[in-house]
Amino acid sequence: EKGGYPHYMLKEIYEQPWVLENTLGGRLREEEAGVELGLRLDPAAFDKVHIVACGTAYYAGWVGKYLLEALARIPVEVDVASEYRYRNPVVDGKTLAIAISQSGETIDTLEAVRQAKRGGASTLGVINAKGSSITRETDDTLYIHAGPEIGVASTKAYTAMLGAMALIAVWMGRARGTLSQAEARSFLAELRKLPRLVERALEMRPAVAHVAEKYHQAVDYLFLGRHIQAPTAYEGALKLKEISYIHAEAYPAGEMKHGPIALIDERLPVVVLATESPLYEKTVSNIQEVRARGGRVIAVATEGDQEIRKFAQDVLYVPKTSPLLAPVVSAVPLQLLAYETAVLLGRDVDQPRNLAKSVTVE
Ligand code: M6R
Repeated sequence: EKGGYPHYMLKEIYEQPWVLENTLGGRLREEEAGVELGLRLDPAAFDKVHIVACGTAYYAGWVGKYLLEALARIPVEVDVASEYRYRNPVVDGKTLAIAISQSGETIDTLEAVRQAKRGGASTLGVINAKGSSITRETDDTLYIHAGPEIGVASTKAYTAMLGAMALIAVWMGRARGTLSQAEARSFLAELRKLPRLVERALEMRPAVAHVAEKYHQAVDYLFLGRHIQAPTAYEGALKLKEISYIHAEAYPAGEMKHGPIALIDERLPVVVLATESPLYEKTVSNIQEVRARGGRVIAVATEGDQEIRKFAQDVLYVPKTSPLLAPVVSAVPLQLLAYETAVLLGRDVDQPRNLAKSVTVE
């Protein structure tokens, strides 16, 4: 049932190209410069978006914030559901609350949906499991179509959630008139290519295995990224700590100077998301700061970027895509890094200690 793979997690990592095809394929409408999501909600009816989720789904929501801001120019708040449900969010009839969940059963996420509904918000689930509890309480559901995910560490559901958030951003951007036909068409063309790019990202596994081998004895890891790659850093750190039990922290790279830089020494591997973006130079400066203090830098960079080799000891290349979609291809080497490290340490990859696949109690 693992299709020849030693673990479900690895199988699910390798399923990502066709999963993305499922999430995106039938929904892209290049001729109309839009997407067909089959939703009843009116994408022009809202003046703000609240995104609620937990764990990896929360990081997908954080990426979603940048996508919505860029393409739909709408104010977005993202919260971990366990915080949202106990605060007093300002919600009204023009709020769209989006709940993201693989299982559709996470209790905090469900309660956050109820909280938003009490304030009068419309609710949309971005969900994997058909007919799950959250889908029964939201006004509408956009299924991510990732297929069953067995590994406790979420992988294919994450990249599918990112794809779904990109679709929602196009859906809203077109309806709100903030995304032109030409811009939409070029973004849709990038989305169309994503499954193939993820397939190419998977080919980097030997390079990732080499990095894992080099650093699997580390006690701590630091992950850094800026803008839409900040959540990628957090997701990379979460994946590593969940299954390898190595302590890992993530920061938006610009925050490094405000504290975490004190951690850096020659024993600390620092993974830096340095893919092509308008903030590339700033990220390279952060890499130099890490190096100046003896830190070991593993850069995730865009194929063809030779310059980065001058600064980073190890480079994991990912295929070029729109900077807004770089989190999708960049998730792959970070998933593989967590996987290879956990295997080297003899961890129970599919069933990490203390964790459950769906968290239905608070
Ligand atoms: O089923 P959900 O997407 O609502 O689950 C949310 C989190 O519990 C989940 O993403 C968790 O953080 C994973 N173990 C991450 O790999």
